Amino acid sequence: MPRTAVAIALPPAEFAAMGARIAEAGYEPIEIRSAEDLAALLNQRRDIGVAVLDAESDFDRALEMYSLLHDEDRNIPALMVVAARVLDRMRLVGKARVNDEYFTRPYSAESLRWRVEAMLIRAEIPIEETESGIMRSESPTEPSGDLQRGQIVIVFNPKGGVGKTTIAVNVAALLQIRKGQQVLLVDCDTVTGHIASSLGMENVRTVADVWTEDLNTGVAESFAEIAARHENGVSVLVMAESPLHSEILEPKRVAEAITTACRVYDWVIVDMHPDYGPLNQVIFERADRIIVPVTPDVPAIRAAVQLREVAVELQIGERLAMVVNRANSGVSVADMERAVGMPALAEIRSAGMTFVRAANEGHSAVERFPKEKVIDDIETLCDRMMATRGFGAAKSGQGFMGIFGGGRNTNPTMRAS
Ligand SMILES: Nc1ncnc2c1ncn2[C@@H]1O[C@H](COP(=O)(O)OP(=O)(O)O)[C@@H](O)[C@H]1O
Ligand SMILES: [Mg+2]
Repeated sequence: MPRTAVAIALPPAEFAAMGARIAEAGYEPIEIRSAEDLAALLNQRRDIGVAVLDAESDFDRALEMYSLLHDEDRNIPALMVVAARVLDRMRLVGKARVNDEYFTRPYSAESLRWRVEAMLIRAEIPIEETESGIMRSESPTEPSGDLQRGQIVIVFNPKGGVGKTTIAVNVAALLQIRKGQQVLLVDCDTVTGHIASSLGMENVRTVADVWTEDLNTGVAESFAEIAARHENGVSVLVMAESPLHSEILEPKRVAEAITTACRVYDWVIVDMHPDYGPLNQVIFERADRIIVPVTPDVPAIRAAVQLREVAVELQIGERLAMVVNRANSGVSVADMERAVGMPALAEIRSAGMTFVRAANEGHSAVERFPKEKVIDDIETLCDRMMATRGFGAAKSGQGFMGIFGGGRNTNPTMRAS
């Protein structure tokens, strides 16, 4: 199998750490010291999928390399280290979908590896073996229908307090802010939902309100039109202000509207009320991925086991992915996987008051406390969601089982067609 190579222009110690992770993932790390190195490499080989550049240590050199990556017919995405204050300012400008990404020091080689892998997979580089070695195809292939439309990700565990809302809000913010994705965040918890208030959004129009008005006006609005935009860029949609107003939310119509929203958004993240009622069942059916936050305690684990059994009955068991929340409590991920009987996609550490403080100020922790370690965890989760996007286990059968820890079977050249 040909390897996709990653050109890395980082100081030697960082290259050593990063290169090892990239090799572990099944890609070839290539050390680059100068723009001349990179130019020679690009002339010689066509299988460079991503370049990691250091715009913090030497901006001019990084700029020179960047221009080589985007010279002539080349368009190789760059992952660039920048100073934290630069990144903060860059976040404020531009909403365009770009292939380049940025990170700041300090970073973990592990999280960077996942970002590189996500970029490689997203770039969907068609590789062909030819007599002269590995060539990149002239024209990129069309992504499959699955990759083109947005993904529906629901966050669910029948137990309260395990972090559903926290994970939904912060994953949505991170995908939007750091990954340049268009995200619709749906508060489908008509009983205890508090997404809008935790994001400091008051008096938002709810779907129940609008659909009730529609009965008189006959004008139907899409979810994209009803949603309100948070200042972090995420579109926020609240189903109903109170359970008393939720009667109009006919399950089938809700499911249709969510599916339609996938044409406009890259991701539709749905925070659910903990029940197995008809509304939740139709949404389960449409979901590409069901993220199940589980905290390391018996009631949460029991609830997840029950969910796994229900999911088997509903034939959606393959779409479940556990996220171990408050993971730094001594219980290993492997133990949690065994106890719950579900593969883990990521783990999120306990972060004290970080989430509560951010919510009190009407923000996600991603924009309020971007440098906290727990945000690295959220980013790793997002990278894995992106890397396994469209692998919707139920459809391709390939699933994401190998993603956690291993990675051998995640080489983009090996994906199911
Ligand atoms: N990893 C974490 N670290 C610290 N606090 C957390 C973490 N995950 C969740 N919390 C807090 O736990 C409480 C319950 O989380 P929440 O997301 O509302 O759960 P759910 O939606 O499942 O009921 C909230 O106060 C939230 O801020
Ligand atoms: Mg909640």
